[in-house]
Amino acid sequence: MVTEILHTDNEVDAREAVNRAVATLQAGDVVALPTETVYGLGADALDPAAVEKIFEAKERPHFDPLIVHLPHKNAYLEIAEVPSEVKHTIVQLVETFWPGPLTILLPKKGIVPDIVTAGLPTIGVRMSEHPVFKRIARSFGRPIAAPSANRFGCLSPTSAEAVLDQLEGKIPLVINGGACSRGLESTIVKVLPPEKGPKPIIEIIRPGPITEEDLKKFGKVVFAERNAAVEDNAPEAPGQLLSHYAPRTRLRLLDNPSDFSPEEGKKYGLLSYRGQEKDGYINLHDWDEIRVLSPGSGRVAEAGIRFFSSIRELDDLFLDEIISEPMPDRGVGKAMLEKLRKASYES
Ligand code: TXA
Ligand code: MG
Repeated sequence: MVTEILHTDNEVDAREAVNRAVATLQAGDVVALPTETVYGLGADALDPAAVEKIFEAKERPHFDPLIVHLPHKNAYLEIAEVPSEVKHTIVQLVETFWPGPLTILLPKKGIVPDIVTAGLPTIGVRMSEHPVFKRIARSFGRPIAAPSANRFGCLSPTSAEAVLDQLEGKIPLVINGGACSRGLESTIVKVLPPEKGPKPIIEIIRPGPITEEDLKKFGKVVFAERNAAVEDNAPEAPGQLLSHYAPRTRLRLLDNPSDFSPEEGKKYGLLSYRGQEKDGYINLHDWDEIRVLSPGSGRVAEAGIRFFSSIRELDDLFLDEIISEPMPDRGVGKAMLEKLRKASYES
């Protein structure tokens, strides 16, 4: 299969790309689409044969459910139930964060094919804020199932080139909408009724661009337990499985600079948070390559934007190992840390 790539740099090209993407979805085929988080591999969420093509192209196991993207804010009501005890909070989250990088898990309606949710009774829904994605979703008018457009277990793509690296020849079309503005996958949450007191519980199933700080005015925020043994059998979010997000090159997350002892003759690249000598990593070794995520005083949100693209760059340099500094354990730093832990061969 030849993979075509369409650009959206000017209005004429963008219109053509939107039309072709919509026609591809209508024909029951898959298309890689830009979102603000990472590129997604989209198909008509209500057409099981089309959704099957996503699993085939990604070589994704069928136990791993897909996120569904909505054409407009209220479209979740057509595919999901909203339990009355949490309705108020769900509406608040939708009104505050959509369109944007927040995925909400809700009980699914019967209209959604089981293949989308891997047989689970819940469905993850979100509305992308990417201008090209929004146009495609609105014009298509139906929900679009779209997991990240990478091969299963590999790095999430934050550019059209990164999609092609992994899926060229396996999908008919990529819409190039430029580099993703957030660079990390959406935060996934589940809202539970209050245990005691008035506050509902907002459980973060996957940390991402919408942070604990952003969510806490809407409820008591808790993080889902990481339990690999349980997840292997009944994955709540199988994206939480270990050894996910792995580059081809061995990657190791350090807790402290002293944890690093280089082997003779090996080439090492450093993924640095802010490239400051005082953090103890930059001068630790004569690194063959360094990528700094947020040079200067360091801002976690900026680091998040460059995270996957910087790992991808290092991965293309034929190094023996990529060494990562720990990211700050706050804001979107939590999402980066989680991905690094999963990619790191020692954890
Ligand atoms: O930002 C994003 O969310 C990107 C863009 C393309 O929208 N999509 C994305 O999809 O990251 P994916 O499939 O790579 O990751 C979705 C995660 C998976 O770990 C999946 O297991 C989990 O969401 N998930 C989806 N539906 C679920 C459900 N009903 N219950 C629990 N976890 C679910
Ligand atoms: Mg993914």
